[in-house]
Amino acid sequence: MYSTPKVVLVTGGSSGIGKAICERLARNGHRVFGTSRQPAEQPSNYSLVALDVTDESSVQQAVGEVLKLAGRIDVLVNNAGVGIQGALEDLGPEQAHAVFDADVVGPHRVCRAVLPGMRAQGSGTIINITSLAANFGLPYRGLYSAAKAALERYTEALSMEVTPFGIQVCSLQPGEYRTNIGSNRIKPSLVGDAYRKGYERAMEILSSSLHYSHDPDEVAVLVEKIMATRRPKSVYRAAHGMQSVAVVMKKLLPGRWFEKLVLREYK
Ligand SMILES: NC(=O)c1ccc[n+]([C@@H]2O[C@H](COP(=O)([O-])OP(=O)(O)OC[C@H]3O[C@@H](n4cnc5c(N)ncnc54)[C@H](OP(=O)(O)O)[C@@H]3O)[C@@H](O)[C@H]2O)c1
Repeated sequence: MYSTPKVVLVTGGSSGIGKAICERLARNGHRVFGTSRQPAEQPSNYSLVALDVTDESSVQQAVGEVLKLAGRIDVLVNNAGVGIQGALEDLGPEQAHAVFDADVVGPHRVCRAVLPGMRAQGSGTIINITSLAANFGLPYRGLYSAAKAALERYTEALSMEVTPFGIQVCSLQPGEYRTNIGSNRIKPSLVGDAYRKGYERAMEILSSSLHYSHDPDEVAVLVEKIMATRRPKSVYRAAHGMQSVAVVMKKLLPGRWFEKLVLREYK
């Protein structure tokens, strides 16, 4: 797909969806800066900059480095994030803080670092990678749904605040893609007997290959499409089959009916 070459910062470019985005955009002529908390070796066609979204000085330093090297940032893809699993009663406040720090406050830190430059140039696009899970509270992934729903609302509000400066903001909700998110999820230190059966069943379903069978490059294709669109929509989804149907059902069905349908999936 053709779009004018842009300077793109993709947080979390070392793995999964972020890596697929970096690879596709770099292949198609964009100047791409991915990030990693510990960049190992440099990819051949894009740069990996050190960045931890939970650390304000690291964010400032990384954005400063990109601005120094490229002079501008046209597109920010807030992709870095972590999953979390566990019954809500089994997860402590530290774990809740950790997921909100990485998945909500992290993107906020990066937006704040990038926005002054975008305002000065009078243009920019921010794509926040949320999740289909933002649309509903999923059992044993409640804190993940909550964090991604928070990022959705953040994205909506930011869009209204920065549109007058020529900056476009949207969210992209992936369904389930084949990445390292499962092994990187924050986990409860102890699984209580009360929730063990439901939790183990949910994890069994989650880790089944069926659920992570799609190529993350599909998300990268959508990012490229958003970048080439003059006026992006507020929300994009990259999902298949039942996953996208579930979003429509959530909107149409009474709340308790929807809960019953979700629980039936987990039986
Ligand atoms: N895979 C899916 O099915 C799916 C579905 C919906 C939404 N998502 C979202 O897609 C995004 C990417 O996830 P993924 O599936 O590609 O997972 P992944 O393979 O685990 O990749 C996560 C990326 O985020 C980076 N990262 C993690 N914590 C970070 C931190 N504190 N600071 C900076 N970077 C950090 C990692 O980089 P380093 O470890 O190198 O620092 C890595 O590049 C996440 O926001 C996730 O919630 C994924």
